[in-house]
Amino acid sequence: MTQQRGKFISFEGIDGAGKSTHIGFVAQFLQTQGGVAMELVTTREPGGTPLGEKLRDLLLHEKMHLETEALLMFASRREHIAQVIEPALARGAWVISDRFTDASFAYQGGGRGMDRAKMEALEQWVHPHLQPDLTFLFDLPLEVARARLDATRSLDKFEQEQADFFAATRQEYLRRAAQFPQRFRVIDSTQDIAAIQLQLSGILQAELSA
Ligand code: TYD
Repeated sequence: MTQQRGKFISFEGIDGAGKSTHIGFVAQFLQTQGGVAMELVTTREPGGTPLGEKLRDLLLHEKMHLETEALLMFASRREHIAQVIEPALARGAWVISDRFTDASFAYQGGGRGMDRAKMEALEQWVHPHLQPDLTFLFDLPLEVARARLDATRSLDKFEQEQADFFAATRQEYLRRAAQFPQRFRVIDSTQDIAAIQLQLSGILQAELSA
């Protein structure tokens, strides 16, 4: 009998949208509701492999040309897909990734203004046949995200960007969500945590029984 392929869920949103909190909840929900047979792999981008984590350190702290940044994001992703995502899905595990290619479109494309055709070419090159089954986009106004960020910790290279960068990033995320409505679920992240968790549970329950 061939193993049923696992599902691939990605988490997206501008910095400060509360993604990390919700990933923890989703992992716990799937682990308890998915039954003993469910293997869950939780990972992140950039990163997710030893090489990818080295690239992440460069990407989050070094200034570089925007195309260098995009290429390194996709280099990290290439490794991540080969070493982690594809093998996990093939053995039936569910993969939840803190960011994937939508983040490159949003940050390098929207935020930094890299040509969309080049982004699409990279996507086609690196994963022509792989897309998340489900993408949660945690969406909220910039000012709210900003306030949450400033309150918590020291900021990396992206988090130090200005409001117009995040406005363009958010806009590109929403454009992608409109372009791929079958996999995107846009979550209004101004809601309180309990309301968001209720919404996430409903979506996941449907995915588990699909
Ligand atoms: P993030 O996911 O926010 O992690 P943390 O919660 O630990 O800060 O940090 C990753 C940063 O990398 C985030 O600012 C978005 C950026 N990024 C891109 O610019 N392009 C990409 O393709 C990816 C995956 C991330």
